[in-house]
Amino acid sequence: LGDGPLKGRHVLVTSGPTHEPIDPVRYIANRSSGAQGAALAAALRDLGARVSFVTGPASVPPPPGVEVHRVETAQQMLDAALAALPADAAICAAAVADWRVANAGAQKMKKGASGLPVLEFAENPDILATLSAHARRPALVVGFAAETETVEAHATAKRARKGCDWIVANDVSAHTGIMGGAENAVTLITEEGADPWPRLPKTEVARRLALRIAEAFA
Ligand code: C5P
Repeated sequence: LGDGPLKGRHVLVTSGPTHEPIDPVRYIANRSSGAQGAALAAALRDLGARVSFVTGPASVPPPPGVEVHRVETAQQMLDAALAALPADAAICAAAVADWRVANAGAQKMKKGASGLPVLEFAENPDILATLSAHARRPALVVGFAAETETVEAHATAKRARKGCDWIVANDVSAHTGIMGGAENAVTLITEEGADPWPRLPKTEVARRLALRIAEAFA
């Protein structure tokens, strides 16, 4: 582990999408690449932190020098995140599926006889809210808010609802090219208010966020 302002700190990062099975060969997913989470984990590592990196099936590989815990579903991600505690900070950058398929098949669903399949859904656990309310709550809990409208108001409400300390809010409207892209334009929401950052490469957003986290522990 390197030297740096986060030396001796343990930071948990969730990243990537989750996959929610429909049957053994099909699943529901989302367009998260895991790029921002991987960049964050690397930036925290570079400042000397020990990083537990809990990742869904992302299209970007996990960075070297972090402890990788690979998961598929939201429930598995929650279990892995809780198993990584205690941590000084938790950064929930994963795009967790809100719902899982409640009537997922143990066998591959077959076309034909019984007509079209009907999927039933159940709500997934909220990892960010669970960590924020946990008896072993990390001292600093950071969430992301991907919104497509009235970003700041929605993110401020989300910060209160989830019980986290900071929200990193961004506009993921299709025209921004942010989801799956290399750049991000975020607004950092803390108890002090909203701080809009310029549009930057995701690696630079990660570096600045890691520095802010180091400052919070200084
Ligand atoms: O409610 P929403 O999904 O917009 O909140 C986004 C934030 O909450 C992100 O930080 C995401 O990682 C986290 N989250 C979570 N578990 C969920 C849903 C969202 O940790 N089931």
